[in-house]
Amino acid sequence: MSKVMIMDHPLVQHKVSIMRSKDTGTKEFKELVSEVATLLCYEATRDLPTEEVEVETPIAVAKTRQLAGRKLALVPILRAGLGMVDGMLALLPAAKVGHIGMYRNEETLEPVEYYCKLPDDIAEREVIVLDPMLATGGSAVDAIRQIKKRGAVNIKFIAIIGAPEGLERLQREHPDVDLYVAALDEKLNENGYIVPGLGDAGDRIFGTK
Ligand code: PRP
Ligand code: URA
Repeated sequence: MSKVMIMDHPLVQHKVSIMRSKDTGTKEFKELVSEVATLLCYEATRDLPTEEVEVETPIAVAKTRQLAGRKLALVPILRAGLGMVDGMLALLPAAKVGHIGMYRNEETLEPVEYYCKLPDDIAEREVIVLDPMLATGGSAVDAIRQIKKRGAVNIKFIAIIGAPEGLERLQREHPDVDLYVAALDEKLNENGYIVPGLGDAGDRIFGTK
């Protein structure tokens, strides 16, 4: 069974509270998505392997540790996942970025894939899939299925807000994928929106409504 990490760090909780407010405008919302992504990235990379190296300080030689060079790929789910990329790259500047485009059919709530471009060597990379919202879980489950089809085996999923329904579905369909979220909310409403949530993440990031 996959691991679920709910990041209840005070900084994360504070920033997510501001994001939730309907009075928070596009500029601030976008900045907060990026900042929360950086903080979630910190937690989601806790298990990256390190190796011992020797570094000459101005005083002496230090035996110290650095990342063991594992190759990473970030895959934002378009559109809203794009808002998390810069915040992740702030800590992982060498990661390659793939893109997968999914939208939810507003009546059936079923995800529709419209774009997929991943690094050629995706099978060798640790993949971190990004989407601020895990609602029914349809988009995440389908995106991860497509990414696995292209050879990836080592996948994590980072969202800002999750609903219990999406979390259960993701765990059921991809029990090998660990999940990192800033908050786990109460439920979905009849339109598939997370309650209390923060509204439509894509619209709030890109100012489309
Ligand atoms: C939102 C969100 C997720 C999806 C979550 O995207 O960014 O991708 O809904 O819902 P689900 O868990 O029920 O699949 P949306 O389909 O609104 O597209 P957008 O990012 O282009 O706005
Ligand atoms: N997608 C969003 O952007 N928000 C929700 O609450 C659910 C799906």
